[in-house]
Amino acid sequence: MYAQMVKSEPHDQSAEAEAFQARIDAGEKIEPQDWMPDGYRKTLIRQIGQHAHSEIVGQLPEGNWITRAPTLERKAILLAKVQDEAGHGLYLYCAAETLGVSRDEMTEMLLDGRMKYSSIFSYPTLTWADMGAVGWLVDGAAIMNQVPLQRTSYGPYARAMVRVCKEESFHQRQGFDIMMKMAKGTQAQKKMAQDALNRFWYPSLMMFGPSDAESVHSAQSMAWKIKMNSNDELRQKFVDQTVPQAEYLGLTVPDPDLKWNEDRGHYDFSEPDWSEFFDVLKGNGPCSVDRIETRKKAWDDGAWFRDAMVAHAEKHKTKVAAE
Ligand code: 3HC
Repeated sequence: MYAQMVKSEPHDQSAEAEAFQARIDAGEKIEPQDWMPDGYRKTLIRQIGQHAHSEIVGQLPEGNWITRAPTLERKAILLAKVQDEAGHGLYLYCAAETLGVSRDEMTEMLLDGRMKYSSIFSYPTLTWADMGAVGWLVDGAAIMNQVPLQRTSYGPYARAMVRVCKEESFHQRQGFDIMMKMAKGTQAQKKMAQDALNRFWYPSLMMFGPSDAESVHSAQSMAWKIKMNSNDELRQKFVDQTVPQAEYLGLTVPDPDLKWNEDRGHYDFSEPDWSEFFDVLKGNGPCSVDRIETRKKAWDDGAWFRDAMVAHAEKHKTKVAAE
């Protein structure tokens, strides 16, 4: 279906492409029925699809702790958060579907490795303090990336982001609240909080993608306002926002070179180990195989339900046609 839509694009794209770029530059929203260059459509499908997959796969490391939450209140909060992530995945799959790709196609592409999900979810959640670190750092990094995406040029994506961002900010606060409890708790709890920060700091910095020099898509995506900021810009903003929060918690960011730079008005910090990042992208993260196997099992287990829904819709169509 996606291939057919691309084929039906007009041959002479240059005049249209220029008019399209002028609309983007003027801050207009592009809607599903509007003409768009093939590359714009493909880039959006790649980015929105990857984002949708990240929301769904992202339920796994936290869902893993619902039965082990320390209190009923914490369990209810975590349950609500994980359900929100499912909702985010659905808004995003719907936004991608407006571009002519089906959810089934996107899921198949995830399962056979043609599409990615965020590197962060290939890391394990080993203790309850990790629920705090994920909410504080991972959702914090996601918000830093997603707030500007509310102004992205593609209408359905921008509108989906408005709701997602509202919920993500609740997620980040609940994570910080867990960290506060742990960091101000017993020595053992403080140690767990520090350990969670140590393990999640660099993987969180990796969420913003490779350095600007290595980012293959940034220049074109920023010209099309599919991305509003470069990877390094957002990473720096995240560090500047998060370091004072770590200080407030009385925890230490695991970077001996972290230092406020008066001249730049920003923190200097160490880059993550990029070889580890690219290795995770190849499917070699600590939980990469497990995550995809779990998604595949859920997809296979749901086949009977999808078949039943299609059969029901077909039956309804035949009935209406006969009337
Ligand atoms: N994880 C996995 N792959 C990544 C990545 C990451 N953290 N960062 C970059 N990549 C991949 C890119 O997809 C690209 O590979 P591809 O060409 O095979 O698709 C390659 O690395 C080069 O990176 P670029 O910088 O050129 O790629 P982009 O321009 O797409 O920038 C991005 C990467 C900043 C992540 C951008 O895609 C983006 O802003 N996406 C939307 C936000 C998103 O996907 N967030 C997921 C976060 S998790 C989440 O929101 C869940 C919540 O519950 C916490």
